[in-house]
Amino acid sequence: SQVVAFRGDRQAGIITAAQDRLHFAAFDVITTDRSQLVALLQQWTTAAERMTRGEETFENGAVGLSDYRPPTDTGEALGLAASSLTLTIGFGPGLFGPDAENPTRPDRFGIAAHRPAALAPLPVFPLDELEPARSGGDICIQACADDPQVAVHAIRNLARMGFGVVSVRWSQLGFGRTSSTSVDQQTPRNMFGFKDGTANLKAEEPEQLDTWVWVQPADNPAAAQWMTGGSYLVARRIRMHIERWDRASLFEQERVIGRSKGEGAPLGQSGEFDAPNFDLTNGRSPVIARDAHVRLAHADNLDGVQILRRGYNFTDGSDGFGHLDAGLFFIAFCRNPADQFVPMQQALAAKDALGEYITHNGSALFACPPGVAPGHWWGQTLF
Ligand code: HEM
Repeated sequence: SQVVAFRGDRQAGIITAAQDRLHFAAFDVITTDRSQLVALLQQWTTAAERMTRGEETFENGAVGLSDYRPPTDTGEALGLAASSLTLTIGFGPGLFGPDAENPTRPDRFGIAAHRPAALAPLPVFPLDELEPARSGGDICIQACADDPQVAVHAIRNLARMGFGVVSVRWSQLGFGRTSSTSVDQQTPRNMFGFKDGTANLKAEEPEQLDTWVWVQPADNPAAAQWMTGGSYLVARRIRMHIERWDRASLFEQERVIGRSKGEGAPLGQSGEFDAPNFDLTNGRSPVIARDAHVRLAHADNLDGVQILRRGYNFTDGSDGFGHLDAGLFFIAFCRNPADQFVPMQQALAAKDALGEYITHNGSALFACPPGVAPGHWWGQTLF
């Protein structure tokens, strides 16, 4: 169906079958008035729920309210279907006052005691070229939909409602989901032409999700129980050096990834979903190279660690040198980034053959609370 339920035990947009399009926005909160922030979260919740049903932000919002005031809904989604729109909110470290990176940051909203330990700044990884203007943020909203105009309309209207309370710090459009998060979905391809999302956690694996995605009661003291049932969102804008990649031979491309380009099978196997065999050798060299992306990112190489990947391709035009500004807007959900994303990215940044072809230039971490209970608003259990 085209309507994904907004309310439930878990936020939509995490294990929801990945939609085709993304508009992701990170906001700075520019007020220090807690009641203003709470009022905005309440308004956002009402509007978000309406939009996920395919309705305007407010009843008669686009037309019909008054000829003499600006419409309360911008109108570009009028007549469009709900398009499986999901809106997922997350809270960034800056909302909670001081942390290791910013020890003097004020606790503007009196919630410092509720900061979960896992919401700590990510370390700087080797090869990172992070741009502050594409990184961080106090609040994120991830809008995913099968129609780009529906996703853009949602972020535009939420940003508009936030005038004076939040300002958009950065945002990213994405297309062509690069992950499948359900066994019913075909594996899509990324901008390097490879299937992406083959070996991913899937919605149909509840025990795995409890282990690797959803925050459990034992993870936090009482003050941070508001995160139980939530998850941490790691966003990385990864520029892919398309022209360099396109000059690499097919052999080199497959060696770097560790899978075949056509079928997406692990090297040495024939089917996409065949298990990789990292012990296979060809003469003296391993069939899946020691620095192949899938070897380094695989659970066997990381004491069993896994993450849920839910990223999107992006192309933001050209960069002034005639090179495509394209890549992967990587989004991962995990139960504790310090135990999952960090060691994985450390292994990749140190050795991954893919490193020659990519550059991470944006980074952010958000704590996404559990689902919105009936009658509740976004973040109610935190404030
Ligand atoms: C697997 C591409 C960045 C984690 C894969 C696969 C491809 C791929 C083609 C194989 C298909 C699959 O199993 O999904 C890329 C590209 C990246 C990128 C082009 C950057 C532009 C990352 C990052 C991480 C990551 C930053 C995490 C820190 C993984 C994991 C797997 C995987 C966990 C599954 C490994 C397995 O168990 O076989 N990636 N990836 N990838 N990638 Fe990436």
